[in-house]
Amino acid sequence: MSTKAGLLHESQRLGTQINRVLRPASWSEAIELSDSFPEAVPVAGATDLLLDLARQPTDAEASGITLLDLWGLAECSQINVGNSDVVVGCGVTHNQIIQEVGLDPALDLLRLACLEIGSPQLRNRATVVGNIVTASPANDTISALVALNAVVIIDSLTGEREVPIRKFFKGFRNTALRRSELVRAIRIPKWGLNTIGTWLKIGNRSAQAISVVHAGLVLELNEATSAVTTADVAIGSVSETIGVSAALSEYLIGKPLNAETAAAAAHIAAREIQPIDDIRGTAAYRRSVTETAVRRALLSLFDTSASELRTTPLLGWMVGRSEPPRLDLSSQTEVSCKVNESRVSASIGAAQTLLEWLRTNVGTGTKEGCAEGECGACTVTLNGAAVTSCLVPTAQADGASIVTVEGLSSEEELHPVQQRFLDEFAVQCGFCTPGFLVAAKALNDEIKSPSEDEIRAGLAGNLCRCTGYYSIVEALTRSLPSDGSY
Ligand SMILES: Cc1cc2nc3c(=O)[nH]c(=O)nc-3n(C[C@H](O)[C@H](O)[C@H](O)COP(=O)(O)OP(=O)(O)OC[C@H]3O[C@@H](n4cnc5c(N)ncnc54)[C@H](O)[C@@H]3O)c2cc1C
Ligand code: FES
Ligand code: FES
Repeated sequence: MSTKAGLLHESQRLGTQINRVLRPASWSEAIELSDSFPEAVPVAGATDLLLDLARQPTDAEASGITLLDLWGLAECSQINVGNSDVVVGCGVTHNQIIQEVGLDPALDLLRLACLEIGSPQLRNRATVVGNIVTASPANDTISALVALNAVVIIDSLTGEREVPIRKFFKGFRNTALRRSELVRAIRIPKWGLNTIGTWLKIGNRSAQAISVVHAGLVLELNEATSAVTTADVAIGSVSETIGVSAALSEYLIGKPLNAETAAAAAHIAAREIQPIDDIRGTAAYRRSVTETAVRRALLSLFDTSASELRTTPLLGWMVGRSEPPRLDLSSQTEVSCKVNESRVSASIGAAQTLLEWLRTNVGTGTKEGCAEGECGACTVTLNGAAVTSCLVPTAQADGASIVTVEGLSSEEELHPVQQRFLDEFAVQCGFCTPGFLVAAKALNDEIKSPSEDEIRAGLAGNLCRCTGYYSIVEALTRSLPSDGSY
């Protein structure tokens, strides 16, 4: 037990504290600040960063860190489709990519990876660039972007440089970024007429699951013979870094796409990887699953029934920052938000996260279940999008409009979603209920009469430890008016 952290068990330690948050109003200001404060840590959606900080040992003597907040900068939140490439800005979230269904075939491959990341609440905050800079081989967009031969566009005060994504990763959680450099965007080359590709993930469950293996494949076919002319295959989450198998690519060249080719190629992929053993799977399991994943991915390329563009509820829309932002926030700064239509102003104090700030300063039943983005008990809407408030740095909520479970009902009556939960007895201990209700309201704002599949996908980020899922799904399907008339 750490005496410095008081009586907390080490699993409850506070981790590295945020001392100061710099909030540039433009990209050029961000670059200048990054140069002037090279020790400042860039932050976008904070879904990786807050967890990293929380897991670092507490040092009561340390003065804390400075964040450079890139979240919601309008010029970074663009997807630009040009003649030869698609450029994804560093503020683009996974849900933003998902929303752009059918914009471009190369982007659709990246979209397959974004669809599999975490939960709707997480995807409303987490960015693609944050996913690659974290540089974990388990991060899903990396195999997609490696197969797509993407290029990372990096800015600093000395200028811009471009690094092919294959050279961007220097090892486990290690990238080619230099001091004071920021990633501005990712450039994805557009496909030719004869390019096809896919991306596939195998995890231990269908949502909120870090991959056991993920794989991206992009093939160029000969126009006349349909034989493979080039093959880019990237396999993630099996080794220390993303694997690119030269032997597999070589094998595929000149081959027709059929079941025999798929089986032989999958066998080579499984032979070539150097799998790790970890909590998600043994090395032997990973080898076997890699073979299955690569075979399935190749088979899907000539099975047209698999080419339908899947979609999923978003639970809101991308959360922009409030303009103009206050440029420099410390723990003494008063954050001012509209919470359930009332103005609340209070200093950040010790509240690292929006959840802590709300529970300290607003009479709310918003709960802390896991504090790691896994359970959804802390779900609120932030500028209209459902998010897990335990993963929002308090400073990023300055000026925002927030709705907690208390904001769903009017003085006179419950929101229909709340009423349905009561009617269907969709509550046991009630701990998860505030988060479920906010997520369910966001789902019903988006889809008036959601199907059972849409309800399950929309609420995939909310866990009920009493396991009362059946009545929760019932409350949102059978009992809701089919015309959405509430
Ligand atoms: C519950 C949960 C489930 C998850 N599930 C998945 C999953 O299924 N698959 C998956 O791949 N990931 C998953 N993640 C990981 C995470 O959500 C992603 O990696 C996310 O995309 C990171 O984006 P962010 O904007 O939140 O990054 P941040 O946390 O803000 O930043 C991540 C890193 O990138 C740096 N950074 C951010 N922007 C820039 C920039 N422009 N220039 C330079 N450096 C920058 C930060 O300093 C930090 O080191 C999960 C996370 C959680 C908490
Ligand atoms: S997701 Fe925030 S407390 Fe569990
Ligand atoms: S009702 Fe108890 S956790 Fe869901």
